[in-house]
Parts: sequence; C-alpha cells; structure tokens
Amino acid sequence: MEVKTSLLDNMIGVGDMVLLDPLSEDSFIENLKNRFEHNEIYTYIGSVVISMNPYKSLPIYTAEKVEEYRNRNFYELSPHIYALADEAYRSLRDQDKDQCILITGESGAGKTEASKFVMSYVAAVCGKGQEVNKVKEQLLQSNPVLEAFGNAKTMRNDNSSRFGKYMDIEFDFKGDPLGGVISNYLLEKSRVVKQPRGERNFHIFYQLLSGASEDTLKKLKLDRDFSKYNYLSLDSATVNGLDDAASFRTVRNAMQIVGFMEDEVQSVLELVAAVLKLGNIEFKPESRVNGFDESRVKDKNDLKEMCELLGIEQSVLERAFSFRTVEAKMEKVSTTLNVAQAYYARDALAKNLYSRLFSWLVNRINESIKAQTKARKKVMGVLDIYGFEIFEDNSFEQFIINYCNEKLQQIFIELTLREEQEEYVREGIEWTNIKYFNNAIICHLIENNKNGILAMLDEECLRPGTVTDETFLDKLNTVCAEHQHFESRLSKNSKFLTDHSLPHNCFRIQHYAGKVLYRVEGFVDKNNDLLYRDLSQAMYKANHSLIKLLFPEGNPAKVNLKRPPTAGFQFRASVGTLMKNLLTKNPNYIRCIKPNDKKAPHIFTESLVCHQVRYLGLMENVRVRRAGYAFRQAYEPCLERYKMLCKQTWPHWKGPPREGVEVLLTDLQVPVEEYAYGRSKIFIRNPRTLFFLEEKRRQCLEDLATLIQKIYRGWKCRTQFQLLKKSQVVVAAWYKRYAQQKKYQNIRCSALVVQSFIRGWKARKILRELKYKKRCEEAVTTISAHWHGTQVRREYRKFFRANAGKKIYDFTIQKIMQKYFLGLKKTMPSMSPIDKSWPARPYGFLDGTHQELRRMFHLWRCKKYRSQFTEEKKATYDEKLAASKLFKDKKALYPNSVGQPFKGDYLEINKNPKYQKLNSLVEDKVLLADVVSKINRANGKGAPRLFLLTKKNFVLADQKTGQVKASVPLLELSSVSVSTQNDGFFALKLKEGATSAAKGDFLLSSDRLIEIITKLHRTGAASADRNQIKIDIADEFLVQFKQDKVCVKFIQGAPKNGNGVACKRKNNRLLEVSVPSP
Ligand SMILES: Nc1ncnc2c1ncn2[C@@H]1O[C@H](COP(=O)(O)OP(=O)(O)OP(=O)(O)O)[C@@H](O)[C@H]1O
Ligand SMILES: [Mg+2]
Repeated sequence: MEVKTSLLDNMIGVGDMVLLDPLSEDSFIENLKNRFEHNEIYTYIGSVVISMNPYKSLPIYTAEKVEEYRNRNFYELSPHIYALADEAYRSLRDQDKDQCILITGESGAGKTEASKFVMSYVAAVCGKGQEVNKVKEQLLQSNPVLEAFGNAKTMRNDNSSRFGKYMDIEFDFKGDPLGGVISNYLLEKSRVVKQPRGERNFHIFYQLLSGASEDTLKKLKLDRDFSKYNYLSLDSATVNGLDDAASFRTVRNAMQIVGFMEDEVQSVLELVAAVLKLGNIEFKPESRVNGFDESRVKDKNDLKEMCELLGIEQSVLERAFSFRTVEAKMEKVSTTLNVAQAYYARDALAKNLYSRLFSWLVNRINESIKAQTKARKKVMGVLDIYGFEIFEDNSFEQFIINYCNEKLQQIFIELTLREEQEEYVREGIEWTNIKYFNNAIICHLIENNKNGILAMLDEECLRPGTVTDETFLDKLNTVCAEHQHFESRLSKNSKFLTDHSLPHNCFRIQHYAGKVLYRVEGFVDKNNDLLYRDLSQAMYKANHSLIKLLFPEGNPAKVNLKRPPTAGFQFRASVGTLMKNLLTKNPNYIRCIKPNDKKAPHIFTESLVCHQVRYLGLMENVRVRRAGYAFRQAYEPCLERYKMLCKQTWPHWKGPPREGVEVLLTDLQVPVEEYAYGRSKIFIRNPRTLFFLEEKRRQCLEDLATLIQKIYRGWKCRTQFQLLKKSQVVVAAWYKRYAQQKKYQNIRCSALVVQSFIRGWKARKILRELKYKKRCEEAVTTISAHWHGTQVRREYRKFFRANAGKKIYDFTIQKIMQKYFLGLKKTMPSMSPIDKSWPARPYGFLDGTHQELRRMFHLWRCKKYRSQFTEEKKATYDEKLAASKLFKDKKALYPNSVGQPFKGDYLEINKNPKYQKLNSLVEDKVLLADVVSKINRANGKGAPRLFLLTKKNFVLADQKTGQVKASVPLLELSSVSVSTQNDGFFALKLKEGATSAAKGDFLLSSDRLIEIITKLHRTGAASADRNQIKIDIADEFLVQFKQDKVCVKFIQGAPKNGNGVACKRKNNRLLEVSVPSP
C-alpha cells in the first residue's frame, strides 16, 4: 500500500510560505534561513518554488529522488524542484496543457542550474527507447556547448550566462520528447573585447587554449599561454573549481553528440582562434600629406596568421582597417581611419564575428534537435535568462538585461494574480483585491514606443547630425524627467541636482529589483551595432565557408543601403515575442535567491536575501496567495488527513468527501468565517486554523499511536501465546506420535519374530513331509523305472544282442576310420618319392592298413613321378633298374653307383680325333667307351686300356695309340665274374673254343664296373640270337689264363693298407686281390 505523506510531515519551518504565521518579512526570512541551514533549499509559495543557491552539491538530485517525486502530488512531499517539474510534465502529458518554466533571480542565484535540473528530471521520467534517448541526449548535451560559448566568469558568478536562453522542448501525445527549439537573446558581446576587472572572457577561449592538443593548437596557430592574447584578461584566467581542459573535452564530446561534423567543429575553432588573433592586431599612426591621420598595422604577423586561418587576402583586410567606404545613393566616399577608429573597427569585427558565430551555433543545434515530425506537439518551455544585475559600471548590456528581467517580473505578477483570481472564480469563492507593486510602469518607461528610453535611443541613433551619448542623455533628461522611476542629475525637475551619487554622464532607474545607475557612454554605439561595410565585405571574400555564411551583408551583389534595425529594437521585439509566447502557456515559477555574495556555502546574508525577497515581490506573492485563503486542499486528501479528528469520519467516511469535511469541521467547531467551501477544494483562511487542525491531528495521532500500540501489544501477546499454545500442541502431538510409533514398532518387531519362528517351524514340518513324500515318489519312480527297464530289456534283449553290438561296433569303427582318414589327409607327406616320412599310426589295429596305405601312396607318387619322365630318362632309369637288380645287396660297390648317371661314352670317341681310327674300326654304335685297367696275368699289375662296347662286341684298345688289342663278339662271352667287395675287378669269361678265347679270359678293373657290367648284360640280353650273359658274384672265381685256370680270390685287407685295391700273383694258381675293408 502506498503511504500517503504530506508536505506538512517532518517540516523544517514551514514548507509553504503561505502557512507562515505571523506573516512578516522577518518571519519570511527567518523561515528561509532556518530551512537553508538545514539544507532545505526549496520552499513553496503556493505553486511557486523558491530556490536558495546552496553553493555546494546536495544529495537531492539522485535517481532515487527522481523516483520518489515521480507521479506524486505537488504537496505530497517536501518542497523540491522535481515536484514542480513533475507537476508541469504531468499536466503537459495528461491534460494537454503547454507549459513554461520561468526561472528568475539575479546573477548567480542558480537559474541555469535549476533549468538543468528540470530538464534532467523530465528526461528521466519521460518515455524511453533508442530514438527517444538520442533526442534526450542531444537536448541535454546542447547545454555544455552553449555554456562554453555563452557563459563567462563574472564577479557574481563563475559560470554566468551572458545570453538569454529559451528552450522549447517538444513532446508527442504520449509525452515522449521529439526535439526542441532554442531561442537566444542578445549575447553580451562587448565581453569579447573587454572584460571588467576580475572577470573573464567567454569560457571557450580558455578551454581551447588549455584543453586542445598541441597539434590542434599548431593548426590554429595558437599558443597555450593566455598572456599572449590581448582579449583575454589575465587576473582571473583560471577559476577555482573550473577545469578548462576537462571542459574542452566535454564540449567537444557534446558537439559530437549534438551532431556537429568534424569539419564544422574545426571551422568553429578556427573562428575562435581568429578572434584571439584579431585582438593582437595593433595599429600605429601615420600622417598623410593632406593632414588626415591614417593608421597602419604595427606587426603584420598576427594579421597574416588570422588571414591564413580564415582564408582572407591579407591586403584586403589591411585596407579595411585603414579605410572606410561610405555609400550613399550612387556615391561612394572613402575616408581614412585614424588609430582609434582602426581599433574600433577591429573590436567591432571581433564582437560581430563572435556573436554571429554564437547565433550560428544556436541555429546549428536547432537543426540537429528539431523534431522530425510535423504532427501536433506539446511544448514545455524553459526560460533561463541572464539574471538581474547591478555592477559598479552598468552599460547598455545591463540595461537590456535588467529590462528583460523587468518584463519577466511583470509576467509573473500578471500571471500569479490572474491564476489566483481564476481559481477563486473557478471554485466560486468571493475575491477581494489585494495591493501589490506592479512594475508595469517601469516596463513602460523603457519600452514605451513614444517616449520610452529604447525609443529615444533609437531616435537618437537615426537622427541626422552629430549624435553622441550626451545628446542621448539630454534627450532622456527632457523626456523622462517626470517619470518617478527615472533619475538623472540634469533632469528637468532638478530633483537630483545635488545628488552626488549620480554622476553627470549617468542616469538611474528604479527597477523593481533596485536602483541601477547606467553610464550612457557607448549606448549609441552599442545600439547602432555598426560594422563597417569594408570589413563585412572583406569577411565575405574569405575562402572559409562559415565566415562567408556569417557575413551575408558583405556580398557586393546584395548591397543594402538601409540601416539595419538597432540592437535595442531587435531585443525589444524578441522580448515582446517571448512574452506573447509565454502568455499562451501554463507558467511554473522558480524564484532563485542568492544567499550571499561570496559564492560560499553555509553563509546566509540576511540583508542580501531580504533585498531579493523584496524586489522579487515574494511577500506580495504570499499576501496575494493568502488574500482570500491561506490554504486550500481538495476535499478527498483533506478528509484523508484529518478524518481521525471526528468519530463520524473515523476510520471510514462512506459519503462524498465534501460532506465528510463539512461534518469534520462542524464537529471540531472551527469558526465558520475561517473556511469556505469551494467546488472541489476547501479553503482555509488563516494558517492558524490549519495549524490547529495539524496540532489536533498530531495529538490524535499520538492517541491513535497509543491505541495502536495497545492493540498491537495485546495482539502481539495473544498471538505469541496462541503461537506457543499451538506449538505446544504440535510438539505434544509429534511426541505422542513418535512414542506410539516406537511402541508399535517394538510390538511389530516382536510379533514378526514370533511369527517367523512359528512359520519356520511350520515350514520345516511341511518341508520334512514334502521331502518324505518326494523320496517316496522318487523311490516309486525308480522302482517302476527299474521294473519297466527290466521288462523292456527282457523283451528286447534278443534284438539288442543280435544287432546292437555290431551296429555300435560299425559305428565306432566308422567314426574312428573317418577320424583316421581325415587326420591322415591333414598330415600327408610330400610328393617326393624319396621322402621316407609317414604319419604315426594312431591305432594298433590299423597297422596293416596303415602300412598298405603307405605303400599305395608311395607307389602312387612314384607313378606320378614317373609319368613325368621323357623316353631318354626312362631308358636311363631302366638301366639303373637293371643295375639294381643285378647288384643290389650283392656287391658292396653298388651303392656308390646309384647316384652316378650312366653316361656311356666317357671318351666322346666320335669327336676325339685321337680315336678316329678306332672309331672307324668299330662298326656299330658305341654304347660305352671308357678307360679300364687290364690286369697283367703275370704280376697282377694294371695297364690302362680303352674299353668300347657295341651291340655286338666289346673292344679293348691301347689307350695311347687307339690300336685295337682285342675285339670280342659278345656271342663269345659266356659270363662275367665280380666280387662282392667294394672293388672294380671283373673277369670277362669267354666260351671255350671261341676264337677269341685263345689267349684266355680278360681280367679288368674299372670304377664304373656297375655300369659296364649292366650295359654288357643288357646288350647281351637284347640280342635274341644268344643266351643271356651270366653274372657271377663271388669272392672267389676261376679265370682261364691261356691253359691255366687261375683262382682270383678277394680278401679284405687291413685299413692301414690304404684305399687302393692291390692285386698280387701269389702262385700259378692264385691271384689275390686285397680290398680295403669299409
Ligand atoms: N542547486 C544547486 N546546487 C549546488 N550548487 C548550485 C545550485 N544552484 C546553483 N549552484 C551554484 O551556483 C553557481 C551559479 O549558478 P547559476 O550559474 O545557475 O546561476 P545563474 O542564476 O544562472 O546566474 P547568471 O544569471 O549569472 O547566469 C553554479 O555554478 C553552482 O556552483
Ligand atoms: Mg545562468
């Protein structure tokens, strides 16, 4: 629930001056002081906010504060500028009423700050979104830019606005900001060329020199040293609490956010630099022959640099400083300028340059921030104009500024009164007029078209003949002498003839805010605001787009001989427009007051504040406000606030609020003349009555507080007790539950144990029975199975015995054989016939089969092997087979011959020329030719002989000569004898009676005995006409030597006899051959 608060809560002094009792100037100031000392810088006079400058930062502008004041009624919270801003914004948004915030007060009173607080508050509470935020940011960032160019340090304010500013913020129907328009009023341009003591030129000059980078300064041909520039006053070049360098960065950043292009910023800075340079141009006199004074530029360096910056031809500008051309109708007259005139021209140029630059800046900002839509807009105007000021030396500028303030005061008086009156009429309350000072008379003195001061000044300026400030003053002395607010030493009524505080060249005006003495010097000039045409034309010729733009009248094609309107005229017109504009809007006032002249916090100079209170007409404001009734409030909040004071209205009033208030006031016996019932509000005449109500309320609140306390305490104790009781019941319940649970669990546990025992016992019993039953069943089954088995076996025994055994056997055998054959298949030996390996026999009973298979396999692989043979190879193997049959296991020499191939013709008799003759003798094909050893019959020694075998005979021939020794037909050969030993001896025995047998048998020896004998035997066998040659193998045989038969006996000699076979004739009958034992 939202807590309803009021301005009246925790009030320091009174938050609204209307409630001041008794009302006097002293109590008014005392109240301000009291509040100021408690940092309450805002106080109301009805809906007007009085703002005291605290000269220190207070924590009352935070985001939380914004939230606090957002959407709250004006009098709901303690006075604050945010309350006013909120009220204005809400009536703009919700009631569609255009608003203006009028901020007045003297210089340094806090107007500019107040305007910024209002803007920032509105920015914080209005709509959000990317586009809206951009608009807000641009609106807010226009402030630093304008402040840099339009504010300066003065004696009264370190950041004094030297121009008037009125900003219209435009909103759409939802209350979202769309853009804005800024109007500026008369910049105090005289400050550019001259500043009073202790004051500074515009901030931007110092900011540029302190904050710009070296590079920028170089480009602008500037030096960081302030003392190098005539236009910059030095005595307060740096201001406490102002960081010019940081401000420069802020300004540049703000320019970027507002939407200035980089080249625009550069152009602006070039112009600022040009003004500084301009101030440094000095002149020296130069007399001409015709007696006229002429001036010349002293040191041309600054002139040159300035011309370079602005792209102006140096000679053109130089000439413009030396001559002045006056055009009248068709005539052109050129006169020379003396030094003073040259300086005047220079300063006029600087002032114009700067003030036009300032106006351009405002226009440029307007271009950026202008609303992008043509739809109807709601407008909130914020007016922050230079404050009323009184200097030691007041000139045209102060006159203009004070005139403006005078007008604002006028509008304030008019509107507050009107508003007040309107309210009474609206509410149907009787209204009595109140006396107050109306400053319309002063405004009339200044702006009156017929004989107002401004009109006189214009008249004087336009008048032909010699016009000086003195002639202007004379005129005033004549025209305004009778005016009660005009004072001059020489005025016609000679009232002030002896007033020494009033110098001769001055006049004094009694402004609403005090008397101000104006020195007339410069009034005419400043009002004329003349810039020699030569200078504006020189500027127009510049090769610099911005400068060209600022001096359009310099365009020779558009020469206008008419005088431009005077400064005073322009200002009066623009103030007039402003006033008209303000009158169309709902005004909201902020009246700023300066607590001291020292710009210091905590100091409250009563006299100074009193003076401001007076001239601002604040007392009158309060009086007007209280003329009828001091306090008014809508019925509903009033009833809400005081309903506790009456039993009928407390705690709730069912009827309409007005009746409730009526009942309340009657019940409280408030005198009838103390209040009046309006249509929507109750009006209370005296603050006393309000305070009576407030006091009653306070007491009642105390009683109520006690009652509430009592009830609360009772309630607290009761609830505490009830809570305890409830807790106790809960605890008891929980405990009982727990105890019962425990008990139950114990019983349950025991029951389970007993149960389990019983169940176990029962189960075991059943198990035993079941086991017994099962055993019985098993026994029965076994017995019946056995019996059935016996029966079946008995029946089937015969079949079983007859076939089953055989079948099992066959099956087993089959399985074994299968396994055996498959095993054998896997372990088969290689296909080589000489491979002796054969897998081991697995079963004893398969022995025969196994051997048979081995044999079969061997035969098969031999057959395979043989099938590959050629005929030739077959014959060779036939021979080898024959040799085997003859000698295998019979003669020890045989195994050696197995590996030797039977070549036959070892001597290659056909080819060898040595044996050609021999070859020719042999008719048949030679089957064998080799060298053998012929054993001498007499001594047993061997002699080499060639041995040739043909189909029909064998031949022995001399090895050397090849001469045939013997040729024996095979038909005559009866047998061949060889030993069983490892020797090569063989005897060729001839048939008895054969022709070749005359010399007896041949005893020969050869290592190739096996081959020779085999071939002999085969050749013999091949011819069908003779018997086979017989082969005798024995270690003793008889050989026929001529007539004698000699026995050849083979003995095994000792191994020591060497390897050789020795043959010896032992006697006539015995030839002994000793063969080494193997
Ligand atoms: N509410 C505030 N809180 C803190 N300081 C403030 C406040 N109002 C004003 N000041 C201080 O007072 C100084 C002067 O205020 P400001 O510039 O607003 O005066 P002004 O009324 O605009 O004067 P001028 O008419 O010369 O422009 C500010 O620079 C600031 O230091
Ligand atoms: Mg200001």
